[in-house]
Amino acid sequence: MPRPLIAGNWKLNMLRSGATELATALRKGLEGESKADVVVCPPFIAIPAVVEALRGSAIGVGGQDLYWQDSGAFTGEVSAPMLADAGCRWVIVGHSERRQYFGETDETVAKKLRAAQKAGLTPIVCVGERLEEREKGVTKDVVGRQVDGALGGLSKDELKKLAVAYEPVWAIGTGKVATPEQAQEVHAFIRWRLAGLSDEATAREVRLLYGGSVTPENVRGLMEKPDVNGALVGGASLKAESFLKIVRG
Ligand code: PGA
Repeated sequence: MPRPLIAGNWKLNMLRSGATELATALRKGLEGESKADVVVCPPFIAIPAVVEALRGSAIGVGGQDLYWQDSGAFTGEVSAPMLADAGCRWVIVGHSERRQYFGETDETVAKKLRAAQKAGLTPIVCVGERLEEREKGVTKDVVGRQVDGALGGLSKDELKKLAVAYEPVWAIGTGKVATPEQAQEVHAFIRWRLAGLSDEATAREVRLLYGGSVTPENVRGLMEKPDVNGALVGGASLKAESFLKIVRG
């Protein structure tokens, strides 16, 4: 079983002062041994303050997105080497909000995750179906296409150096968490798909996170499922108390 990974996605929240305060509280709360790897993903501009607040702690820092070119005339973008240079070791790629509002596609996700790995960052690649897709019974078609589109062509070594987050769009920020059984069903499917792209041993090593309305109350049931290796947490990661409870399971 891979070591659990709990990542907080702060989205478009928090000024530097609040970000520093939250990071400091997490650091204090997680002193000593933790059962999981813990990562926080602040807005780009708060990354240096959070990296500073967490220096020397085991909590990792990640970006919420990146651009696939290292540098050049791409106004407004942030590259993988810039994130690494700022102290990040992680980056979220292909979040459904990026797909929905900012034109992210499986092709751009594939380019971004390769750029992230080239710079030594570990990508957390997000996939997940929309409500109408679940209702039409095409969840696995959608998720399978996203997995193949993003990860197809990666070597076994490259597959081992990323995490996949299954985030059903209907569960994000809605309070409607997937049941542990619903999550397990799709996670098992993703792992099977990963095995098809590599082999079973490789697929077993890839951490599969669940995301979408994760709270201290529902995290344990989800994490008990064999193919759920962690969580990507939005709203409940904005308060130290609730995020710490989630990390502690
Ligand atoms: P949520 O967001 O926990 O607020 O539902 C999860 C995510 O979007 O990563």
